[in-house]
Amino acid sequence: MTAGRTALKSLSTPAFSLERVRADFPILKLEIGGKPLVYFDNAASSQMPQPVIDRLVRYQTTQHANVNRGVHFLSETATAAYEEARGKVQRFINAREDRELVFTSGTTDAINLVTHGYGRKFIGPGDEIILTTLEHHSNIVPWQMLAEDKGAKLRVAPINDAGELLVDEYEKLFNAHTKFVAVTHVSNALGTINPVKRMIAFAHARDVPVLVDGAQAVPHMAVDVQDLDCDFYAFSGHKLCGPTGIGVLYGKAAVLERMAPFKGGGDMILSVTFEKTTYNTIPHKFEAGTPPIAAAIGLGAAVDYILAIGMDAIAAHECDLLEYATAQMNRLSGVRIVGTAAQKAAVLSFMIDGVHPHDVGTLLNQEGIAVRTGHHCAQPVMRHFRVPATSRASFAFYNGMAEVDALIAGIRTVQKVFA
Ligand SMILES: Cc1ncc(COP(=O)(O)O)c(C=O)c1O
Repeated sequence: MTAGRTALKSLSTPAFSLERVRADFPILKLEIGGKPLVYFDNAASSQMPQPVIDRLVRYQTTQHANVNRGVHFLSETATAAYEEARGKVQRFINAREDRELVFTSGTTDAINLVTHGYGRKFIGPGDEIILTTLEHHSNIVPWQMLAEDKGAKLRVAPINDAGELLVDEYEKLFNAHTKFVAVTHVSNALGTINPVKRMIAFAHARDVPVLVDGAQAVPHMAVDVQDLDCDFYAFSGHKLCGPTGIGVLYGKAAVLERMAPFKGGGDMILSVTFEKTTYNTIPHKFEAGTPPIAAAIGLGAAVDYILAIGMDAIAAHECDLLEYATAQMNRLSGVRIVGTAAQKAAVLSFMIDGVHPHDVGTLLNQEGIAVRTGHHCAQPVMRHFRVPATSRASFAFYNGMAEVDALIAGIRTVQKVFA
């Protein structure tokens, strides 16, 4: 069902121990209303393991100062730790050079950086930008704002009723006006994994650059930006066991160098006079002001933690969870899974007949189960399926089968209350 199935065969990390992994997450010991917490809202934000918390504490208690500006011990220490985090992220997604990694405040900020830094410079009246129905609002609205501003046009590749992108229709959207493609790697609402490598190759054959929104991909599968050959790749730290307030924009060095800065301020300059400013080299040209230093260092620690477990082991375990949960949910009458793509990451959106998703969420919360209900910032997806909202259980590697059983029991309770 996911990339994890094949990855299982090439498992080269030490055996995955759910018990050992769970022990690293203090928050998983919580009880909600007297019931053990079942945290299935990982697509919105994942939880933080103790080694990442410890790294943040060590930074704040022994290393903090502003970066880039000082010659004193703490400033040099903080700068080294901040740049070391950049290197960790570089290796995590296999970027060619560390200067191709820009720290942002999140995926949303990273995409806005591209619409401003690239879009405003290189997209003009009559140009077309291709998106897909599966996009999160973060990968729609910034492009819409750019298109309105520049007189450009959005074209949208449709999906089928399994929630899979119609790749042939995507390919038909290209014409002489096509100037950019922005596509999600994994749908946050449905879990669909898009065939981004094929989509990028098709776009590149027509000289069209591609941004991949990887917010929901990096927590679940190994990502290699050189192999994908994407021009941009964006993701958030807080969905990857890291802190909030930190994200990453990967961009090919040659593309980043051609771009205009997004935000102006300290650190993004080489020299300033009232007549003229010359900008810093990449990635600093895009990191105006004091960056989220602690959060970046925390993200570096999160990457270390995840790599120590192993992306293959994570993908394989989540694949088992998704297959089990899907089978269990399919056995329930009156429950419909929304999004049944052949290639899926660990997301299960569902509807219970006769019960509004918000009521589902409220009643599951009484059982200690955290799911997200709503449109998941993906209203075009909801519109495709003609629903205002779904309930969404999204899994992480620290979830277990017993928690899936609790969800299934919780759904039965909801059905009884509304019978
Ligand atoms: C696919 C996708 N893109 C973008 C975002 C936005 O991420 P952030 O709010 O961290 O900027 C999300 C968040 O849920 C997402 O799932």
